[in-house]
Amino acid sequence: MIDPDHLRKEIHEKASSISTLEELFQLKSAVLGRKGKLTHYLRSLGQLPIEDRKRLGSQLNALKEELESLFIQKERELEEKKIKESLTKERVDVTLPGIKFHFGGRHPLIQVWEEIEDAFLSLGFDIYESPEVEWERYNFGALNIPPDHPARDMWDTFYITEKMLLRTHTSPGQIRCMEEQKPPIKAIMPGLCYRHEAVDATHMDVFLQIEGLVVDRDISFADLKGTLELFVSLIFGPDRKTMFVPSYFPFTEPSAELLIFWEGSKGNSSHGGEWLEVLGCGQVHPQVLRNVGIDPRVYSGFAFGLGVERITMLKYNIPEIRLFMENDLRFLEQFK
Ligand code: DAH
Repeated sequence: MIDPDHLRKEIHEKASSISTLEELFQLKSAVLGRKGKLTHYLRSLGQLPIEDRKRLGSQLNALKEELESLFIQKERELEEKKIKESLTKERVDVTLPGIKFHFGGRHPLIQVWEEIEDAFLSLGFDIYESPEVEWERYNFGALNIPPDHPARDMWDTFYITEKMLLRTHTSPGQIRCMEEQKPPIKAIMPGLCYRHEAVDATHMDVFLQIEGLVVDRDISFADLKGTLELFVSLIFGPDRKTMFVPSYFPFTEPSAELLIFWEGSKGNSSHGGEWLEVLGCGQVHPQVLRNVGIDPRVYSGFAFGLGVERITMLKYNIPEIRLFMENDLRFLEQFK
């Protein structure tokens, strides 16, 4: 027996006692869904005599519209109720102490490394990277250090095989760069180096170097001096005194060391400071150019290699190289 009024009453009653959206959806599908009560009534109209069909049809359709808007209205109410509940439940107590975040900082060596890179990038250098595990030929042979050369002792390292080792300096990057690229070359090569060495306040068995190489026509020692003096002023400020002193490296001729004057350093306070070595440099040895197939009658160049630890120690007056590796926060947090 189809009774629209009875159905209306029943659904209104049920809807008024509903308190969650889930219950509402269940009720909705029990009335208007594919197997819902009202849907069933509408389907069965076809079996009724024409008179009943017309009357009930219009009553049921009106009821359908009415219930649809009832459900929409109810859904809105329940959603609002849900939001209100979650707002009261999740209310923030602004008087509670906050959660402290511990932000790390960049390691002082990485900071100075990037500063040095930026200085050379601003002077038009490219960055060229080469491997830490290196062939003996690149670390020594091609740099004009034959197997019986005494310089091999000075740069003793950790061997992986007889021919493969951990590089003792970034200078093999010069050879790789010149084998890969043709002049003009203007590049720096940063990276870790290793040495079989007793560790003390100024020496570590692993350290950071930045190599530099310029090869072109007519490159002179004056270009080397000008470039490095500019570099020192970019890193240490314009008033730092510098001095080049003669030195020896098998892969440069002539060779030099760059010293900078350290005012009031502890080492020699009676003189108000002392000269400290910051890097090795020189004109690329003609034999090194020949080793990579560059004609030294056409091209010349200069090279340098600096220790990032040394520069950082000078820049921040750090007396002890091992501090960089100990990871003591009291030290590291001073560079944040
Ligand atoms: N490779 C040298 C070292 O580790 C430093 C050096 C000196 C690099 C002179 C150079 C250079 O490129 O020209 O002691």
